[in-house]
Amino acid sequence: MELIAKTGVSKNEKIIDIGSGSSVLIDDLIDDGYSNIIATDISQKAMNNTKNRLSETDLQKVTWIVDDLTQPAELQNFTDISIWHDRAVFHFLTEEKDRETYFKLLNGAVKEGGYVIIATFNLTGANKCSGLPVQRYDEKGIAEFLGDNYELVDFFDFDYIMPNGDNRPYVYTLFRRN
Ligand SMILES: C[S@@+](CC[C@H](N)C(=O)[O-])C[C@H]1O[C@@H](n2cnc3c(N)ncnc32)[C@H](O)[C@@H]1O
Repeated sequence: MELIAKTGVSKNEKIIDIGSGSSVLIDDLIDDGYSNIIATDISQKAMNNTKNRLSETDLQKVTWIVDDLTQPAELQNFTDISIWHDRAVFHFLTEEKDRETYFKLLNGAVKEGGYVIIATFNLTGANKCSGLPVQRYDEKGIAEFLGDNYELVDFFDFDYIMPNGDNRPYVYTLFRRN
């Protein structure tokens, strides 16, 4: 939320949460006044957890898309996005071809002057999550992936403490599209 506020994007501009799952980011964005939110995940079940928390009025502020980032059927139709937010999804893409598909989606969606927030396990982090292999990054690795058209505006490391007490070190990055 700090990085989103830092962008200065207006509350009615389009924000997409990639691999939204059951994250409370959607609730927090609505509480903060954002009204043009796209939540997307491969799992309808995960997103239903979020939907079930929201009032009828708040549900209208979100477009819900079930889609696979690696074989998108609908996500390529989204353009003019002011903020692309991804926490703990990009790092699951361990195949080059899946990262290429992800980049094409992102680059087709984010408008000029728009922002990209990507948070992944950092280089000191675990190499698996939920039993699945992950690709770890620092801010330089994510910058290299996004290329010269995306300028690194801010980044920080963040230790997420899991409910079971385990530490999951993340890197959070904010980029601006030139
Ligand atoms: C670790 S969770 C993170 C959820 C949320 N962003 C958060 O921070 O709590 C990863 C999410 O990515 C979704 N996901 C994994 N692979 C995906 C894919 N190929 N396309 C779309 N979503 C995917 C999962 O269903 C899951 O909800």
